Amino acid sequence: MSLIKSKKRVADHGEVFTPPWLVEKMLDLVKGETERIDARFLEPACGSGNFLVPILQRKLAAVEIKYGKFNFERRHYALFGLMCCYGIELLPDNIAECRANMMEVLAEYLNITSDDEVYRAALFVLSLNLVHGDAMTMRDGTGAPISVVEWGYLGKGRYQRRDFRLDVLTGMASFHAEGSLFAGLGRHEIFTPTSSYPPMTLHDLADSTTSDDSGGGR
Ligand SMILES: C[S@@+](CC[C@H](N)C(=O)[O-])C[C@H]1O[C@@H](n2cnc3c(N)ncnc32)[C@H](O)[C@@H]1O
Repeated sequence: MSLIKSKKRVADHGEVFTPPWLVEKMLDLVKGETERIDARFLEPACGSGNFLVPILQRKLAAVEIKYGKFNFERRHYALFGLMCCYGIELLPDNIAECRANMMEVLAEYLNITSDDEVYRAALFVLSLNLVHGDAMTMRDGTGAPISVVEWGYLGKGRYQRRDFRLDVLTGMASFHAEGSLFAGLGRHEIFTPTSSYPPMTLHDLADSTTSDDSGGGR
């Protein structure tokens, strides 16, 4: 496996991929978290998913152990595992590859194709969770602030969605710093979503689209 695509891309974007053996070693440092279905991971320079793909594989292995015998839960928790993986990537071809690679892993695990609701719901989730943007400026490809979707699984086939601004979330630590003007504020006063949605089913998610849900391997 090549760890670079071209010398120019290395020079322009520092694009050197981490070899799989090293990824596995690094993930083992937080093994327990990688095997927790609802542990959230954000890769701010995700490339084509060298970290996110094995994280999803570990989550799906956890789904299999817990829900392998129950098809309804297996499908819903597999999607929830995907919902807990986030990435930001500057280059459009890399983010498209990353979405496709993640989709392939989920589709293979659930043995589904594009006519399945979970597949279409996953494409929608990937279009939101894997952002084409700049992790330094925290702006997406259109220049808008990057949004992070907090997904929750409420059980019985229903998911919760709340959207937050990444720059606000990452600023949380400084809000609480000693001497900060905001140090006295409660968490709820800062940790306010930009949008909250009513509970959604697989069907609702599968019927949803965004302007950026291309590249998911359809
Ligand atoms: C060193 S590669 C690492 C890719 C992957 N994380 C890995 O370890 O294999 C860095 C990636 O970050 C992307 N990148 C560089 N600057 C970025 C930025 N400001 N925001 C988001 N992605 C960026 C590059 O396009 C490239 O795909």
